[in-house]
Amino acid sequence: MSEAKLGGRFTFPGTTFTVQRIGYGAMQLTGPGIWGPPKDVDGAVAILREAIAAGVNHIDTSDFYGPHTTNQIIQQALHPYQAGLVIVTKLGARRPPDKSWQTAISPEDLTAAVYDNLRNLGLDALDIVNYRAMGSVHAPDEGSIAEQVTALADLRRKGLIRYIGLSNVTAAQIAEALTITDIVCVQNNYNLAYRHDDFLIDELARQGIAYVPFFPLGGFTPLQSFTLSEVASQLGATPMQVALAWLLQRSPNILLIPGTSSVAHLRENLAAGQLALPSEFVTKLDGIASEAAVKH
Ligand SMILES: NC(=O)c1ccc[n+]([C@@H]2O[C@H](COP(=O)([O-])OP(=O)(O)OC[C@H]3O[C@@H](n4cnc5c(N)ncnc54)[C@H](OP(=O)(O)O)[C@@H]3O)[C@@H](O)[C@H]2O)c1
Repeated sequence: MSEAKLGGRFTFPGTTFTVQRIGYGAMQLTGPGIWGPPKDVDGAVAILREAIAAGVNHIDTSDFYGPHTTNQIIQQALHPYQAGLVIVTKLGARRPPDKSWQTAISPEDLTAAVYDNLRNLGLDALDIVNYRAMGSVHAPDEGSIAEQVTALADLRRKGLIRYIGLSNVTAAQIAEALTITDIVCVQNNYNLAYRHDDFLIDELARQGIAYVPFFPLGGFTPLQSFTLSEVASQLGATPMQVALAWLLQRSPNILLIPGTSSVAHLRENLAAGQLALPSEFVTKLDGIASEAAVKH
């Protein structure tokens, strides 16, 4: 597949990192509950290699997936990394043996997590590190993140991190972080049915900062909508392709990191870059979020 088909290119602000707008999120390459190795490690390696061969050059990961699993599989599949590949990882949690998710946000925790990521990815410096605020799990809570962002900025000065991003944050937290360091991307929960960040996306677009939705396909509860299925069938596409194409059309600073453990789904997701949505369909799809809001 030609690289031009992957939704076009985006350059993270103030960097030389230019990526295809359709990337890959590695979280599905673990066992159930984001714990332990996947059932099929060779299959996971094959998915990563196929993504790269198709032109993907933006991979999202974290050392708390597994823990350590996805980073180790990325290293196994792709190291030595090809020039131009941007691996984005995130810090802010740890996974004790009871498989729970605990915050790990002291400067010492964050420093240890940077070294864990470096070791498990086989890197000397991490391309982009998102500070992942725990908030209310999949939605942010207000509160200062200055201590954590300052710790990452210190690690950046030491050369262990090239650029910094944020995840699960509010507009106020982004503004606070920008007083401490440059921020190149924000990764929050957003998709066709959950549009809490509409205003924020437009604001970040004005600043040239990437917005990278997590759960672009609905995450643990994949998107399901009569309207989405109807539009997909009229366009000869799948609902997930339409959901991804809608995100690409929503704003030029949106980068996609759909997660999948299936080569067939990977191919389907990458092909969404070739799907143009006529405006009458966009109008119909725009109605899905308000239907979803009414149901909740
Ligand atoms: N910052 C954060 O807090 C945060 C939180 C969650 C995720 N993330 C990142 O965001 C990435 C994306 O999120 P996600 O993987 O949780 O959710 P997602 O991309 O919204 O959806 C993944 C789910 O959709 C299924 N799927 C993928 N492609 C499909 C297709 N073409 N047709 C039908 N089903 C399809 C996958 O199952 P199959 O495996 O069967 O394809 C999986 O169950 C993650 O991989 C991770 O890197 C970040």
